[in-house]
Amino acid sequence: MSRESAVDESFASRVAFITGAGRGQGRSHALRLAELGADVALVDLGSVGSVSSPTYATATRDELNSVADEVRGLGRRALVVEADVRSAEQMVDAAASAVRELGQIDYVVANAGITDGFAPTWELAPENWQTMIDINLTGVFHTVRAAIPHLLVEPAGRGLVLIGSGVAIKAVPNLSHYVAAKYGVRGLAAALAAELGPYGIRCNSVHPAGINTEMTTAMVELNGIPREELLERFRSGQLLQMNVEISDITAAVVWLLSDEARFVTGVELTVDAGESKK
Ligand SMILES: NC(=O)c1ccc[n+]([C@@H]2O[C@H](COP(=O)([O-])OP(=O)(O)OC[C@H]3O[C@@H](n4cnc5c(N)ncnc54)[C@H](O)[C@@H]3O)[C@@H](O)[C@H]2O)c1
Repeated sequence: MSRESAVDESFASRVAFITGAGRGQGRSHALRLAELGADVALVDLGSVGSVSSPTYATATRDELNSVADEVRGLGRRALVVEADVRSAEQMVDAAASAVRELGQIDYVVANAGITDGFAPTWELAPENWQTMIDINLTGVFHTVRAAIPHLLVEPAGRGLVLIGSGVAIKAVPNLSHYVAAKYGVRGLAAALAAELGPYGIRCNSVHPAGINTEMTTAMVELNGIPREELLERFRSGQLLQMNVEISDITAAVVWLLSDEARFVTGVELTVDAGESKK
């Protein structure tokens, strides 16, 4: 059996529930999983809410619908779910609609997140701290809390990947609410691996370096730093002097969900070009 076919067989007739799927890394994970045979529930904020503190442009309904069209173009089913990860109720409804429309949930990719402007901790506005924790940490809790009961119905081969950050392994200054939230995600993934192991369900976290996505656009706008300077800062903090790309994170997520990684759980997988080792 070729390596490629081993991965293929993991995903046929499976359903992935992906938050932050309207663009960027979430979109990429959805498209790759669809290419490999999975149907996908695409969860993003769309038109059901907005982010203030900081003012933040999230994926639109049109962007979400266009990812769904791309998935359908690959011959797979796509369900668009506009939901705010800050709402426990909306996430319970999102998971229920995924099961109703697509039959089951096999995989969870908790990927939705925001960033913020750089500031020392003692100058951070409490409302910016709160928004960050609500989306980047509590939002992940709401996601897994809503989805896991559906995974437990038939746990064999099910898996979760929580998206952290390189800064959850090696902290950076002036973004402490983001760092704290992502350290929390790392802890949540470890706790879930311990809780779900007895059921045969795996949970891992992936920790990307800085990548050129709309999150970088937000960093450019919030901090007034030119994009190329930001990308150069990412590179200079790494052992490998090239910017990590979205597809590199997708490859890690897909492998962790695949049956090839069937004995891999509780792992904190850095895809950070050596950032955390420098
Ligand atoms: N881009 C980077 O440099 C980088 C580095 C390390 C980790 N990450 C993490 O990767 C993940 C994906 O980020 P990305 O780079 O693709 O950025 P992105 O901004 O393109 O994608 C994030 C998605 O999350 C959605 N989202 C935000 N708030 C939401 C909410 N309340 N409810 C539902 N959806 C919401 C956005 O609409 C967007 O589609 C995030 O968790 C981010 O923290 C990014």
